[in-house]
Parts: sequence; C-alpha cells; structure tokens
Amino acid sequence: MGYRVAVVGATGQVGREMLNILAEREFPADEIAALASSRSIGKDVHYGDDRVIKAKALEHFDFKGWDIALFAAGSTVAKAWAPKAAAAGCVVIDNSSLYRMDKDVPLIVPEVNADAIDGYKARNIIANPNCSTAQMVVALKPLHDRARIKRVIVATYQSVSGAGNAGMDELFTQTRAVFVNDPLENKKFTKQIAFNVIPHIDVFLEDGSTKEEWKMVVETQKILDPAIKVQATCVRVPVFVGHS
Ligand SMILES: NC(=O)c1ccc[n+]([C@@H]2O[C@H](COP(=O)([O-])OP(=O)(O)OC[C@H]3O[C@@H](n4cnc5c(N)ncnc54)[C@H](OP(=O)(O)O)[C@@H]3O)[C@@H](O)[C@H]2O)c1
Repeated sequence: MGYRVAVVGATGQVGREMLNILAEREFPADEIAALASSRSIGKDVHYGDDRVIKAKALEHFDFKGWDIALFAAGSTVAKAWAPKAAAAGCVVIDNSSLYRMDKDVPLIVPEVNADAIDGYKARNIIANPNCSTAQMVVALKPLHDRARIKRVIVATYQSVSGAGNAGMDELFTQTRAVFVNDPLENKKFTKQIAFNVIPHIDVFLEDGSTKEEWKMVVETQKILDPAIKVQATCVRVPVFVGHS
C-alpha cells in the first residue's frame, strides 16, 4: 500500500517541482493532494506528464489519514498549519526557514545526514535547508569525511526562481520593459534585477550581512559540523532557474 501525500504550495515554484519529482521518481503514492491558497481552488496542477490534479484550499483540508505533507508555502503558512498537520498524525517536511534551527526538528539533506531523521518524532516535523546550503553540503560532506573542513568561503549566484513565482515574473516583466523602453518597477527585489546583480537576498542583519548568508552559516553547522566556520556572500542574478 502506498502513501497519501499532500503538497502544500502546489501552485508555487517549489510545490510544482515536488509534484514533478514525485511522479518522475515513481514515489509510491496512492493519493496526492495539491493544496494552495483559496485563490487557487480548482486550478489545474500537473503531476507528471500525463496527470492533472485540481488544487484545493489548504484552509479547508483535513490532514487526518494523510501520511506525509510536503510544505512549500513559506513560514507564515507553515506556522499556522504545520503543527495542525503534525498533530493529525501526518509527517510534515517543511521547506520554509521556520523550523530549521529548532532543536526538536531535524534539518535533513538525505545525502549528508539521513541518520538525524529519527529526531522527527519529537514534533512530527522535518525541515529542509535553504537551497544554497543544501547543494553546498552535498559537495562538502565527502571532503569533510576525508579531511575535516575548518573553514568555507563561499559565493552563491542565485536565480530568481528562489524568490518564487513573483521573482520570476519580475525578471520577465523588467527584461521586457528594458527592451520596449517602459518604466521599470521593483516590487519583489529591492533593486532592478533585469541586467543587474543584487548582493541582497532576504533581510539585512545588524552586522551588515544578509539573512540568506547567515542561513548558510548556521544550517551548515547544524547539518554537517558545528565546528565548521562559513563565510558566505549571496548574490541574486538575472537568471530564471538554476543557482550556482
Ligand atoms: N524557490 C526556491 O528555490 C526555494 C528553495 C528552498 C525553499 N524555498 C521555500 O519554499 C517556500 C515556497 O517557495 P516558492 O518559491 O515555491 O514560492 P511561490 O512560487 O511564491 O509559491 C508559494 C505557494 O504557497 C501558496 N500559498 C501562499 N499563501 C498561502 C496560504 N495562505 N495558504 C495556502 N497556500 C498558500 C501559494 O498558493 P497560491 O498560488 O494559491 O497563492 C503557492 O502555491 C518558501 O518558504 C521558500 O522560502 C524556496
């Protein structure tokens, strides 16, 4: 018998990718629920190449009887709904930053620290790291096993997909506006992103770094080794998909 899996944020960049991957990898799911805000009720959401599911509103959804909830709808939604899903017996895997540094919630990258997953039983919640941390620790893990890394200096060049649907729309609209000589408007990003790079992702902290940079430091320490020092510079670049 397969699992019943709910994807929260199924109409977003991450949720849609989750549905693609569940289908591509033939994850043993008997039933998939595509959940989003009430704005998206009835919207078609693709599950693989040949299946389409109608989106439902998270606010009317009952998690009882569902095995896994993949949350990809931001911290506010996770705060309101993840504990309810977890209390209903559904294992929550959350993509937002809300639970990442919670000591009762394991922060997992399967290729790196799958053993830490047992800790999920405390709250029935598992957290996923920031996208840049996730890919970096996969590369660091075998090096650390062989040679004990002391310090990492990293620069990331992150596509606008990391800022969700709104970030991708802004790059498209601004790029078009540049070519047709329309006025440019910054809504999602603090500066023009078309034909520009912005060393500012998430909010600025007191020490002048950004929260995105801070996440790379503390998340790497939680996943890999608290002794590793990380110095990160995170830059948003005018590329639609694919961080480097
Ligand atoms: N993009 C990335 O590369 C990336 C990487 C790692 C982690 N994350 C994290 O993953 C989360 C989602 O990011 P994203 O890029 O996919 O964002 P997104 O494209 O803006 O999508 C947001 C999703 O959340 C849903 N949503 C918003 N408010 C809701 C509500 N009140 N109730 C139910 N659903 C609601 C939206 O539904 P509607 O369409 O109905 O509004 C949509 O499905 C964020 O926490 C982000 O930090 C993103």
